[in-house]
Amino acid sequence: MALRNTRNDLGENTKKVSVTVLNGTLTDMIDLTNSVRMAHWTMRGPNFIGLHGMLETFYNELFATADEVAERLVQIGGTPDGTSQIVAEKSRLPAYSQATVYTLDHVKELADRFASLARSVREGIDSTDEAGDADTADLLTGLSRDLDKKLWMLEAHLEEK
Ligand SMILES: [Fe+2]
Repeated sequence: MALRNTRNDLGENTKKVSVTVLNGTLTDMIDLTNSVRMAHWTMRGPNFIGLHGMLETFYNELFATADEVAERLVQIGGTPDGTSQIVAEKSRLPAYSQATVYTLDHVKELADRFASLARSVREGIDSTDEAGDADTADLLTGLSRDLDKKLWMLEAHLEEK
C-alpha cells in the first residue's frame, strides 16, 4: 500500500493498519447506506411510515459518519475505497435483494447487516488501538456505539407478543 506523505507523525505501519481498517469500514458503510435506502424505498406493510422515516435518519447518519471515516484515512495518507465499483467488489456484507418487500423482512435483513458491521468495527477498534492510533480507535468506538443503537432500534420491531 502506497501512502501519501504527510506531517502526521504516526508510524508507517500504524498508518497502514488504520487505512486498511478504515477502508474496510468505509466500503461496508457505503454498501449498508445503499441497502438502508433500498429498504426505505421498497418496503410495504405494517409500521410503514415509522420505519420509512427511521431508515431515512439511519442512512443520513451512516453517510455522514462514512465521510468522517474516509477523511480520517485521507488524513493519514490513504486513498478511500469509495467508488461504486470498488464498494461492490470489496464490501464484506451480503448483497441486498431487490425483491424484499415486507417491512419486517427488511428489518431482519438490515439487523443482520448492522450486527455484522458492528462486529467488524469492534475488531477494528482493537487492531487500530494495538497499532497505536488512538484517534482512529476513538472514531470507530463512536461508530460502534451508534451501530449498536441502530441495531437495538431495528430489533425492537422484531419482538414477538
Ligand atoms: Fe425518501
